[in-house]
Amino acid sequence: MAEHMLKDKVAVIGGGEKNLGGLLSKAFAEAGAKVVVHYHTSQKEAEETVRAIQDAGGQAVSVQGDLTDVASTRQLFDTAVDTYGGVDVAVNTTGMVLRKPILETTEEEYDRMFGINAKAAYFFIQEAGRRLEGHGKIISLGTSLLAAFTDGYSTYAGGKAPLEHFTRAAAKEFADRSISVNVVAPGPMDTPFFYPQETPERVEFHKSQAMGNQLTHIEDIVPLIKFLATEGSWITGQTLFANGGYTTR
Ligand SMILES: NC(=O)c1ccc[n+]([C@@H]2O[C@H](COP(=O)([O-])OP(=O)(O)OC[C@H]3O[C@@H](n4cnc5c(N)ncnc54)[C@H](OP(=O)(O)O)[C@@H]3O)[C@@H](O)[C@H]2O)c1
Repeated sequence: MAEHMLKDKVAVIGGGEKNLGGLLSKAFAEAGAKVVVHYHTSQKEAEETVRAIQDAGGQAVSVQGDLTDVASTRQLFDTAVDTYGGVDVAVNTTGMVLRKPILETTEEEYDRMFGINAKAAYFFIQEAGRRLEGHGKIISLGTSLLAAFTDGYSTYAGGKAPLEHFTRAAAKEFADRSISVNVVAPGPMDTPFFYPQETPERVEFHKSQAMGNQLTHIEDIVPLIKFLATEGSWITGQTLFANGGYTTR
């Protein structure tokens, strides 16, 4: 079913320059998609990702933007439409983490965390819903902390929690155009995003909570996102926990 393949489709990847988003941009391009690589501050990584895709014979452009500013989100999708004629798949890998007790968290930190993890995620889904072709796919990145009973991550897990509700509502509202909308929720993932919030002892604890005593790797998550963007099109309104059985209480 061609509508569920990536070949010749257009994919917008929020945070598509590095780490999980960077690998995803390359994997989508390898499957034949034209990729719009969004980045925030990491211009060099965005250029490297676009160059790697082009060197491998694929098509990609990069677009800078602070997605807490809704105008930037609109401009990102404008670029996709202007450059490639439409959008079929939108994956938002942006996010920001903070591990801090509630009693020490400032108003500014709360606003920053909810700005990128909740507000930007909402307007990314809204703009994708406006721009996607029929049979489109919208995928947002949550966290396995959505199912955890733990301390310290109130503004991170709390900021990502609304994603599940945004996603269910969008799945219903966009269903008449056969657009699927889902959240992928990795466990603690081996990227530079994770380590600054944790002590070496806690990293070992997180490893001990998953199969094989290891963290989630970006290579574990990319195939799942690809699946949702292709053959997994009948899955919608769901949060898929992909964490090697990681639990924390
Ligand atoms: N690593 C983990 O342990 C883990 C576990 C579960 C879920 N996740 C989720 O997985 C996703 C990808 O994480 P990752 O590990 O691959 O780390 P990452 O590359 O640092 O991903 C976060 C992305 O969000 C971007 N971003 C932050 N603030 C932004 C803003 N205001 N506007 C636009 N973009 C902004 C970052 O760009 P800049 O760096 O330039 O600001 C970066 O590209 C995130 O949503 C994260 O919450 C991560």
